[in-house]
Amino acid sequence: MPLVPMKQVLDEALKARYGVGAYNVNNMEQIQAIMQAASQTQSPVIVQASRGALKYSSMLYLKKLMEAAVELNPTLPIVLHLDHGNSLATVKEAIALGFTSVMIDGSLKEDGKTPTTYAENAAVTKSVVDHAHQFGVTVEGEIGRLGGIEDGVGSGKALLTDPAEAEKFVKETGVDALALAIGTSHGAYKFKAEPKLAMDIVSEVRKRLPKTPLVMHGSSSVPQALVDIINKFGGKMPDTKGVPIAQIQEGIRRGVAKINVDTDGRLAITGAIRKVLAESPEKFDPRDYLGPARETLAAVIKQRMIDFGTAGHAADYKPASLANMKKIYSA
Ligand code: G3H
Ligand code: 13P
Ligand code: ZN
Repeated sequence: MPLVPMKQVLDEALKARYGVGAYNVNNMEQIQAIMQAASQTQSPVIVQASRGALKYSSMLYLKKLMEAAVELNPTLPIVLHLDHGNSLATVKEAIALGFTSVMIDGSLKEDGKTPTTYAENAAVTKSVVDHAHQFGVTVEGEIGRLGGIEDGVGSGKALLTDPAEAEKFVKETGVDALALAIGTSHGAYKFKAEPKLAMDIVSEVRKRLPKTPLVMHGSSSVPQALVDIINKFGGKMPDTKGVPIAQIQEGIRRGVAKINVDTDGRLAITGAIRKVLAESPEKFDPRDYLGPARETLAAVIKQRMIDFGTAGHAADYKPASLANMKKIYSA
């Protein structure tokens, strides 16, 4: 089957109370690792590319790699999603290339740094919904603002989601999925002390918007074991804590359907590469370290698919096409 729109994948997850991980990619090995994990666990999967990823790889390379992923895994529902789209222009480019889902992060201006007002966020999000739905493409919006700065993106100032504003936002814009700010942030350095998330916001938004799948960004768990491997083999990562799996599972019980994970993949890859190069300094063939990096990443993602409850759900439904979704949106 071709790449599928994200709406149905998340609606089904919300109904059956499991989460679908959205894993960030920049290169072939990451895509292969995700597909290996999805295939072994029979999971629907969201592969996402940030603007940084698109710049690094150029959109076309990623798109063609995803075509290979689809061809090699014809029975799995696979979504290709734009992560943190910054403008209608970026979204248009992604849709023209075949992305089946887009995020417009209207919590920040086009520069990806300056906070916006509610009205600015609603206006740009609505313009993206109007464009994307003409093609059957799913739209994720964001209300509230995440903390943290990743690759120069982010304001560094968090603003937790106001549930009443979330309800108004979804009704005004028509977004299919909504990212909430509940105390997570991007990157490896999320919490110094015990992580505490505002789960009551998830429940309150779910009560107001029972049909809207909710999204948790900044959901890497930053496992100590991965940080330890990096540090054991020459890395210098200070003490840090991520989002515990149990809290993500609690979020899923309360209405979260999409969970964004990037940093844990970065940690897995870096640790594996450091280990090979430290233990075998004579090696210089990239396959000798990219291969183990890919295996380590696949194992981490496989465990997430099990923990989020995604495993075993690949064949639950007949995936809709963009054409099906186009009809639904225009009805
Ligand atoms: O949203 C943040 C993701 O981790 C993407 O990060 O912009 O460095 O690719 P990036
Ligand atoms: P992490 O940095 O916690 O992996 O979050 C990724 C993310 O939210 C991508 O949009
Ligand atoms: Zn994010």
